[in-house]
Amino acid sequence: MSEMGAKLERVKVAARSAVLHGQNSWSMQFLASQDPRFADVWEAAGAIPGWFGHVNAAAQFHILAELRPERIVEIGSYLGKSTVFYAKSLEVLGIDGKVTSIDPHTGDRQHLEALGISELPSFDLFRSHLLATGISDYVETIVATSHEASAGWKDPIDFLFIDGWHSYEAVMEDGLDWIPHLTDRAVVFFDDATRYPEVSRAINDLAGRGTIHLYGDAFGQAIAGRRPEAPKSVQTVLRSYRPLTRYLPGHRFVR
Ligand SMILES: C[S@@+](CC[C@H](N)C(=O)[O-])C[C@H]1O[C@@H](n2cnc3c(N)ncnc32)[C@H](O)[C@@H]1O
Repeated sequence: MSEMGAKLERVKVAARSAVLHGQNSWSMQFLASQDPRFADVWEAAGAIPGWFGHVNAAAQFHILAELRPERIVEIGSYLGKSTVFYAKSLEVLGIDGKVTSIDPHTGDRQHLEALGISELPSFDLFRSHLLATGISDYVETIVATSHEASAGWKDPIDFLFIDGWHSYEAVMEDGLDWIPHLTDRAVVFFDDATRYPEVSRAINDLAGRGTIHLYGDAFGQAIAGRRPEAPKSVQTVLRSYRPLTRYLPGHRFVR
């Protein structure tokens, strides 16, 4: 690449990052201001280390408030940031529900590959975070891979969060194992849907089978659901993410 080409590439990367940052910040203010109860949820979940972002929490809280799920299944809990977010959301929304948290607690793909190791246990910290935030009663913990946990699963699921092993095969397997248990009003979130092309491809292929409908991408996550029409709260979240990102390639906005 010529020196000019390299300079142009750096400008493009910086511009994309500035657009995403600006969009997240604008959407964050908008979504968090929709319901004052969100602040209590984030006070607990925000204190825990992990990947689940403030803007992702604000977007998902808005949807949980409309959906009022009785059973949330989370694949990939790590240190419990998203787990505490879901459990605390059930508490502040007054929902008599449960979060099933599934993780073998053997380590995240990014960490393992960067460190060149095969295992990085996370269960002790996960449990400590649940106890510290006082939400353990809302959580059912399964220490196993999502495929193992799906064997013999019977309960209907209203909200599914897929954030386990980020490969094409693993996301396909998660979808094929768990989508059959979704209720007809269920919503599914896929994490890292725009960062990893193989995750993005798996989501498209799962939606292509017709058992879930892809609504679009927002804040790095893909949102899908059983019904062809996205619920009102999902439409609000997707619209809140559009003003700037509509100009960036790689973001699906299906409906
Ligand atoms: C990106 S982290 C999850 C982050 C978490 N949701 C948060 O809020 O910070 C991915 C997690 O998936 C777990 N994992 C890896 N393989 C898995 C599998 N087959 N089934 C379920 N979880 C898996 C890892 O142990 C790791 O804790």
